[in-house]
Amino acid sequence: MNIKGCIFDLDGVVVDTAKYHFLAWKKLGQELGFDFTEQDNERLKGVSRMRSLDILLEIGGLSLTEEEKVAAATKKNEWYLEYIKQMKPEEILPGVLDFFKSLKEAGIKIALGSASKNAVLILNILDIKGYFDVIVDGNSVSKAKPDPEVFLQGAEKLGLTAEECVVFEDAEAGVEAAKNGGMRCVGIGEPAVLSKADVVVDGFNAFTIENLKQL
Ligand code: G6P
Ligand code: MG
Repeated sequence: MNIKGCIFDLDGVVVDTAKYHFLAWKKLGQELGFDFTEQDNERLKGVSRMRSLDILLEIGGLSLTEEEKVAAATKKNEWYLEYIKQMKPEEILPGVLDFFKSLKEAGIKIALGSASKNAVLILNILDIKGYFDVIVDGNSVSKAKPDPEVFLQGAEKLGLTAEECVVFEDAEAGVEAAKNGGMRCVGIGEPAVLSKADVVVDGFNAFTIENLKQL
């Protein structure tokens, strides 16, 4: 089937915000009295803010009331925003912009499919919102990845079927979401982690529009 649309996850695919999420969660862990490692952070990739907090609390062996959880997640997000406000367009991952440009030239539509409620802010900070024909983010979905809702909404808003779209993802839950939605998926990262993807590459310097056409 001809590819007419590409749907991109944001964190870890377009920009490496995972390191800022990590720093903010680590700070929250410290405040709550436990350490949170980079390895633990892998479990939070692609996972919504509140679910991430639950995982963090499980790692720390703590339980909080609903009210305390909302306060903790708000605090984490404020720290995270401090980091991302200082991001520069140079932090866009290598090869991403050239890939976007070649998609535009080929008439292939571009959508964002992210669990983040900060997605539009990040696109504006990086000055790349204009590349996206459609944006689906954490404010418009009710079911988290691996549920395919975010990508199915993206395809629908592009006016395309799932079979006409390819998803780009760095998280295991995200790859599963794409496959659950009946879409082809390019994994960005480790083949061992993203084994359910149709192909796994370590970044857009290793993936061109020619590779896309061969999927
Ligand atoms: C992405 C990231 C997750 C993050 C989630 C929610 O999926 O990979 O690490 O927790 O978005 O982000 P937000 O900006 O809404 O807290
Ligand atoms: Mg991601």
